Amino acid sequence: MAKLWGTRFKGNSDLLADQFSCSITYDFRLAKYDVIGSIAHAEMLAKQKIIPSSDAAKIVSGLKKILSQIEKGTFKTNPKAEDVHSHVQDVLKKMIGDSADKLHTGRSRNDLIALDVRMYCKDEISLLVELISLVQKAIVKFAQKNHSVIIPAFTHLQRAQVVLLAHHMLAYVEMLERDKERLLDAYKRTDVMPLGSAALSGTSLPIDRLSVAKKLGFAKVSNNSMDSVSDRDFVIELLSAIALLGVHFSRVAEELIILSTQEFGYFEIDWSLCTGSSIMPHKKNPDILELIRGESAKLISNLNEVLVLMKGLPLTYNRDMQLDKTPLFEAADKAELILQLMEKVFISLKLGNAKTLQDQSFFSVDAMEYLIKKGVSYREAHDTIGKMVKNIFDYQKLVADMNVKELKAYHPKFESDVKHLFNPKMSVKIKKSHGSTNPTLVQQQLKKWASKLHA
Ligand code: ARG
Repeated sequence: MAKLWGTRFKGNSDLLADQFSCSITYDFRLAKYDVIGSIAHAEMLAKQKIIPSSDAAKIVSGLKKILSQIEKGTFKTNPKAEDVHSHVQDVLKKMIGDSADKLHTGRSRNDLIALDVRMYCKDEISLLVELISLVQKAIVKFAQKNHSVIIPAFTHLQRAQVVLLAHHMLAYVEMLERDKERLLDAYKRTDVMPLGSAALSGTSLPIDRLSVAKKLGFAKVSNNSMDSVSDRDFVIELLSAIALLGVHFSRVAEELIILSTQEFGYFEIDWSLCTGSSIMPHKKNPDILELIRGESAKLISNLNEVLVLMKGLPLTYNRDMQLDKTPLFEAADKAELILQLMEKVFISLKLGNAKTLQDQSFFSVDAMEYLIKKGVSYREAHDTIGKMVKNIFDYQKLVADMNVKELKAYHPKFESDVKHLFNPKMSVKIKKSHGSTNPTLVQQQLKKWASKLHA
């Protein structure tokens, strides 16, 4: 296939070098954006009288045919093409003849690839944000269904205090909301139209970049042609948001894995998302969640790859930048899959058969705050409850069985009403602070999220 730059070259390029530099195998998926961008460009060239309207009309109708083939999935790639831009140009020329030669006026592949990738990233961000909302919705529904369930919460993976399950679930929803915010924030800086920066310095032709930006739905045009063709920050920002999303889901996956073991038994993961063992017939393994946890390693390295790729590059375009595509596409594809699977996980998640919460040490902070409310200092209260907890463990003595005299032996400010505190329901109920696990507050949060997400 003829190269877009072949004329001034002596002889043919090396076959292995061609193979090595070819990007069509991975940038073919940008064809849709290449064509949509080119339609806007050709229409602008005609409007500005840079090319005749008759040529532009042929170009646009040819490109529209290609676009409909892309949409139907019948547009074929050509492994001999150097990249997606050369391929579209080549197919167009075969379709409409010499008018196709006028399409590349006032632009270069350097600004074109920047345009294509920006358009792809914008669509991808919108999709990921939608998918995240679906996962949040599934989590909120699971929380609503089990709104009065109380579970232990951990620090250092040691029993800490009791919380509403819904409170725990809404922690995930908050994490995911920040992921959406990060993506939408990255969107703002991606939404800048680079076409017309040409190779690096702009063009002497009277192009109208603003009209192209408008037609393509970009909020702004870029203000510096050199920056436009060499900036890949927007790719890095998207990869960074995806990496963090991956880390969040890795943590969620880890919790669901551990909390659904027979040892914990708080959750039950649906059979459809588990696998068995080839040797141990009794096994039900949470492989999908394990793989979600594992894939986050890849998402982190995708980000790392592009950071390292970019770090030594001088302005402006360098061919190294072609290599941002594979990590970008891989991360985006993986993120989509993870989100779709996580939605299924929460839609089908059930409560396990964990034992009721008998351990009195869960309520040590509540008992401490009981004393603090009666004017005892934090330190003194901590020491008192420390002694109590020690005895409870050493002598298996339940607070419920102690009489007022025994309680007062620990601290004179104790009355028998302290015994009411030693149960999970009371523990969550007495929490008051904004953002706490108090059932009324959690209900309010659930309502807020449900209406925000239309759950
Ligand atoms: N395939 C290239 C990329 O993805 C397109 C730009 C090529 N530009 C060039 N000067 N060789 O970056």
